[in-house]
Amino acid sequence: MTQTIDEREQYDFVVVSNRLPVDRVVRPDGSAHWQPSPGGLVTALEPVMQTKGGAWIGWSGQPDLDFEPFDSNGIRVVPVRLSALEVEHYYEGFSNGTVWPLYHDVIAPPIFHRDWWETYVKVNQRFAEAAASSCNSGGTVWVHDYQLQLVPKMLRALRPDLTIGFFNHIPFPPYGIYSQLPWRTQIVEGLLGADVIGFQRLADANNFSRAVRRLKGFVTKNPIIEVPLVDESEGVRAHAPVRKGQQFRTVVARHFPISIDSAAWEKLARSPSVQARAKQIREDLGNPRSILLGVDRLDYTKGIGHRLKAFGELLSDESLTIEDATLVQIASPSRERVRTYMELRDEIELTVGRINGDFATISHTAISYHHHGYPREEMVALYLAADIMLVTALRDGMNLVAKEYVATRFDDDGVLILSEFAGAADELKRALLINPHDIDGLKETILAAMAMPKRDRQARMRALRKRVLENDVDKWSTEFLRVLTTSRSRGRKD
Ligand code: G6P
Repeated sequence: MTQTIDEREQYDFVVVSNRLPVDRVVRPDGSAHWQPSPGGLVTALEPVMQTKGGAWIGWSGQPDLDFEPFDSNGIRVVPVRLSALEVEHYYEGFSNGTVWPLYHDVIAPPIFHRDWWETYVKVNQRFAEAAASSCNSGGTVWVHDYQLQLVPKMLRALRPDLTIGFFNHIPFPPYGIYSQLPWRTQIVEGLLGADVIGFQRLADANNFSRAVRRLKGFVTKNPIIEVPLVDESEGVRAHAPVRKGQQFRTVVARHFPISIDSAAWEKLARSPSVQARAKQIREDLGNPRSILLGVDRLDYTKGIGHRLKAFGELLSDESLTIEDATLVQIASPSRERVRTYMELRDEIELTVGRINGDFATISHTAISYHHHGYPREEMVALYLAADIMLVTALRDGMNLVAKEYVATRFDDDGVLILSEFAGAADELKRALLINPHDIDGLKETILAAMAMPKRDRQARMRALRKRVLENDVDKWSTEFLRVLTTSRSRGRKD
């Protein structure tokens, strides 16, 4: 349904996210091509985009890269260019050095730099302008995640005719933490430009509504927030009492827990080659009694250090031998130019080296550590090989790895140990829930998982699988878009 207005391509449905759903792969001869990145979000939105005529606006992941829009699986890919300095200030700086640690319970100290903020505003404006010029009259724009929190308000100012949704993939912090942000009011106002603001957990939506009440004094009647129209036209203002008879529009702020393409993960797990590979992995590890698995981006929010500490102590206090258990840790490289991530890598690799140095033998390693990503097939083989999956995040918006593990276990076996600080814990209550800060508790839970009778493992896994197979990513996006369509805000009289 592509139209040409003012020689610009316009679409009925536009998705905006920091990263595009395609990766640029450079061949050995220096030539490059684009490869769809197999994320859950793109899988969920592909059918909607194909039927509605959709465009996806985002950054290529590389500085100073210019290219023309192109089609990928029926989606129009529209680039937003970032200079090297913008990548440093907007992406590495404000997004991942300020917002990311602040929104994850200040596990690492957030850094507040005015230059970073200024670039964040400038880059958000660029994304908003790209969305404004790509969307048909009366169309829908769905903005994603913490890198683009100002886009809803900026876009509404440019195109009041649009329906605007926003989904926050990471936690939204309690007000006591959020209020540290020098630009806390501007961010809340930016988000309130949307018609629907989606969060992972009920607690995130409640934290946001509280921030709105504290900073703006608006009336919130869960899940509705009343935004006075006068406030929007006057722009940024200090807290002002809401007057009776004021015109307002309504914004919905509620939780929509994201999920995965569960059936596709299960299908892959059922493939004979993946099952053969799972067996091979167990053999290659020296047939330990139990395989423990951790799969994470190398990020300080994931609690990898806590997990290693618990496992190392189980070996050193001789609760376990390396014939009993091997820990496989996949730590995919992430945000490698941000200092906290560099320091984390050093710390984790030092710990892995020490534990292996102390306990590994020629035939058995203690921790099989991998600092790279793997294709989906290999991940599924690892999930099938793993008797125990360790998700020990200190704070996580959702944690899709927990859901992937469950989706692949069509044999109803395997034990999921899951941090209560991951959004997934709200739904996956039959996992073994842990507090990752409690190292003794974590150690006991690992031993309990290893000793759990098959009947109990199966009962738990069946319950978990029911949740994950019923609530897949398609249901998530359908529900968000349904609420977005029905809640298009209208000004109404108090
Ligand atoms: C999290 C965020 C995403 C982000 C991803 C990878 O899941 O919610 O917005 O894309 O991490 O991080 P990166 O910085 O590499 O995009």
